[in-house]
Amino acid sequence: MKSRQFVLLLCLVGFCLIGVCQGGNLRKKFYKDTCSRAEDIIKIKTWQHVSANPQLPSKLLRLHFHDCFVRGCDASVLINSTANNTAEKDAIPNLSLSGYDVIEDIKAELEAECPGVVSCADILALSARDSVSFQVLTGRRDGRVSLASEVLTNIPAPFFNFTQLKQNFQNKGLTVHDLVVLSGGHTIGVGHCNLFSGRLYNFTGRGDQDPSLDPTYAAFLKTKCQSLSDTTTTVEMDPGSSLDFDTNYYAILKGNKGLFQSDAALLTNKGANNIVSELTNQTKFFTEFAQSMKRMGAIEVLTGEVGEVRKKCGVIN
Ligand code: HEM
Ligand SMILES: *[C@@H]1O[C@H](CO)[C@@H](O)[C@H](O)[C@H]1NC(C)=O
Ligand SMILES: *[C@@H]1O[C@H](CO)[C@@H](O)[C@H](O)[C@H]1NC(C)=O
Ligand SMILES: *[C@@H]1O[C@H](CO)[C@@H](O)[C@H](O)[C@H]1NC(C)=O
Ligand SMILES: *[C@@H]1O[C@H](CO)[C@@H](O)[C@H](O)[C@H]1NC(C)=O
Ligand SMILES: *[C@@H]1O[C@H](CO)[C@@H](O)[C@H](O)[C@H]1NC(C)=O
Ligand SMILES: *[C@@H]1O[C@H](CO)[C@@H](O)[C@H](O)[C@H]1NC(C)=O
Repeated sequence: MKSRQFVLLLCLVGFCLIGVCQGGNLRKKFYKDTCSRAEDIIKIKTWQHVSANPQLPSKLLRLHFHDCFVRGCDASVLINSTANNTAEKDAIPNLSLSGYDVIEDIKAELEAECPGVVSCADILALSARDSVSFQVLTGRRDGRVSLASEVLTNIPAPFFNFTQLKQNFQNKGLTVHDLVVLSGGHTIGVGHCNLFSGRLYNFTGRGDQDPSLDPTYAAFLKTKCQSLSDTTTTVEMDPGSSLDFDTNYYAILKGNKGLFQSDAALLTNKGANNIVSELTNQTKFFTEFAQSMKRMGAIEVLTGEVGEVRKKCGVIN
């Protein structure tokens, strides 16, 4: 008995030494014994979907981000509304998230392989990883609560200034360094006109343009987004390379061509601005992105016996 406890203690210390403690109880290959093919299945299915839809990586990456920033990475973002409850995905505005069907498709295959084992929260994290390639710890369990009312208070807005961004990330235990690194997620994907057209047409309420935005780029954006009321047109956040996960986001940012005020805001703080410069180095960006994703992926996770493993990602059990 005593020696068993000692072994347990040794194991715990051992795990902590190799850094497992950091992400709560998340670890590598959580499903090794319970569903050994889980990660392979997720990877194969994700790649199948991505090959049919090259925009999918941006959708999955953003979905994981939104999941983690509201109630932690517990797949609460995937839950459908019910007669009784307006869930996160129906927050107004619902923030144009997508990719839910892909997660549900992967989940169905995993339920057939090993029922009740692999959480939706881990599927989301792993499929986001397989979309853009970074390492992910596993062992998250799924939450049972999803409230539309919690979205706007937790997800940073595209018009946030540096102070607000810093505070928002700090509320999630993330640093300014994480903020600058994770904003690099905007190297893939698109943004809707109405989320930045104030910078083009009415920045301070006097029909003016954001002086921090490159004028040539602003003129180009005006040809795409022709009025403040355009809510349907999208433009690439990283023009010309919006399907490539690369460091071009930081290059355009330094050229004053960040799409959102929240992107441009990263240049307004000296420390953050320095980090932007450093991250134009691809080796550095990839290493740092993986590390910051690990921290983001560990926000308020449910592990052990807390929460559940959903049967379908869209409904609680
Ligand atoms: C720093 C604060 C952030 C703000 C203010 C922000 C804001 C936004 C906005 C407004 C959009 C455009 C949505 C649309 O028009 O459909 C967007 C797209 C996106 N964001 Fe962020 N974001 C932030 C951080 C992040 C982080 C941390 C990640 C992931 C690591 C991320 C990944 C993405 C991706 C991949 C897209 C493209 C989605 C698509 O193409 O459908 N963002 N973000
Ligand atoms: C709504 O809430 C009531 C009472 O809490 C519960 O009995 C019912 O099953 C719920 N209905 C749905 C669709 O969740
Ligand atoms: C988000 O809102 C739009 C417009 O109201 C709607 O067409 C779309 O289905 C909604 N998406 C989700 C996932 O609820
Ligand atoms: C950032 O925005 C907040 C809220 O609008 C405002 O109180 C604050 O003064 C702004 N900070 C800077 C540095 O502009
Ligand atoms: C520009 O902003 C001001 C102040 O918010 C507002 O009164 C005005 O209606 C806006 N102009 C347009 C064209 O929306
Ligand atoms: C990029 O960063 C890596 C790792 O930090 C470093 O070894 C390399 O020298 C840097 N390259 C340049 C061009 O600065
Ligand atoms: C969630 O809602 C979507 C859209 O209404 C629907 O297509 C999907 O089947 C639902 N998911 C589940 C698990 O019920």
